[in-house]
Amino acid sequence: MPYLLRSARFIAAEILEKAVAPGNTVIDATMGNGHDTLTLCRLVGEKGHVIAFDVQSAAVESTKKRLEEAGVLDRAQLHCMGHQHMAEVVSGPVDAVVFNLGWLPGGDKAVTTLLDTTKQAVHAALSLLRPLGICLICCYPGHQEGDREREYLMDMLAKLAPQQYNVLWHKFLNAGPGAPECFVIQRQ
Ligand SMILES: C[S@@+](CC[C@H](N)C(=O)[O-])C[C@H]1O[C@@H](n2cnc3c(N)ncnc32)[C@H](O)[C@@H]1O
Repeated sequence: MPYLLRSARFIAAEILEKAVAPGNTVIDATMGNGHDTLTLCRLVGEKGHVIAFDVQSAAVESTKKRLEEAGVLDRAQLHCMGHQHMAEVVSGPVDAVVFNLGWLPGGDKAVTTLLDTTKQAVHAALSLLRPLGICLICCYPGHQEGDREREYLMDMLAKLAPQQYNVLWHKFLNAGPGAPECFVIQRQ
């Protein structure tokens, strides 16, 4: 099969597959319909833990159903709570944190992630990472809040000390506005 260059979302999924191992503890900061939560549950295996957050009860219900059907609900904790509070429920270090910013696909576009809470959550996530832990953030410029999130992340992540974190940035340079971008941060 020929190799296809794919968008930041797919690159994020490929990195997750390599970075998350059986027995890991990981966070899905934006559970949505639970696609990423399910992937994480499969990657951490029976002995691993996935802690997931969303502010919408519809997202939590949809994720719960997806995980139940896949038989992996027992390895997940689903919180109907803003990800900015993650440090209140997660105490120990984690192996990975995943953010897929924006709104619930097929849901209310008004309920999108917001710069202020995204800022707090990303800082909490970076502090919770264990050494060599990975944080993946997919963001979607092209709408007001997405533009603000991207601008903040570009600036803040570029200033992280390389002795503490390595930061990688994926985007198609010629895809035009609104194309997803992905930041990959690894704690040193
Ligand atoms: C792009 S969707 C996530 C899609 C999801 N990863 C999936 O696999 O289906 C973004 C989600 O972030 C949620 N969200 C918005 N603000 C949030 C917050 N402060 N904390 C946690 N989730 C939030 C939205 O409700 C929405 O479901």
